[in-house]
Amino acid sequence: MNGRIAASMMCANVMNLEGDLKTLERLGVEYLHMDIMDGCFVPNYTLGTDYVRKIKESTAIPVDIHLMVDRPEDKLDWFSFGEGDYVSFHYESTAHTQKVIQKIIARGAKAMLALNPATPLCVLEEVISELDGVLLMTVNPGFAGQKLVVRTLEKIKRLRGAHPEIEIEVDGNVSFENAVKMRAAGADIFVAGTSSVFAEGTLEDNIRKFRECIT
Ligand code: DX5
Ligand code: ZN
Repeated sequence: MNGRIAASMMCANVMNLEGDLKTLERLGVEYLHMDIMDGCFVPNYTLGTDYVRKIKESTAIPVDIHLMVDRPEDKLDWFSFGEGDYVSFHYESTAHTQKVIQKIIARGAKAMLALNPATPLCVLEEVISELDGVLLMTVNPGFAGQKLVVRTLEKIKRLRGAHPEIEIEVDGNVSFENAVKMRAAGADIFVAGTSSVFAEGTLEDNIRKFRECIT
């Protein structure tokens, strides 16, 4: 299967959201990545519950909700998602990993566990069979526009080698150049933000160019 694009909506042009959404639809972008930050788990605030609900009402593109919040088990119910959508939460954000996975699956969505660059793959051992995939952070979460943590490229490769069947999503500085390396390492879903589809140039040209990098 070809690599799939998750367009990072925190990087979209809020003054032209409708236009950007039409372009993303027309070019077959697979998912809309929603960075949810709570000011505690990460030092930033970004998109929220109303934003996700309005986007879900406006387009048929599935959402890919990335929860960077403490205690996701208490907050999942606040968000609109269902069949065909993806929800990722951080291993580092909760003592109740299994409970959160079950809550996501019960709503028909795909459950992804997100790992910070410094979190080792061994924490997956007891839950990997219940997950649809793993989101590997390739920068430390919190901000767009950061530089790749280079050793995460090798982490992607190790995860792919150990689990050929699992979906691997990569998030952070997924530039045109880095996407080629991440694809070669075994990633399936690519969060495309300021480093690629929302970089300078037109959204349309950037998506076409990015697609070539992950195919
Ligand atoms: C980090 C965010 C960013 C962003 C991607 O928490 O998830 O990774 O969406 O954008 P760039 O390409 O700026 O890293
Ligand atoms: Zn993200």
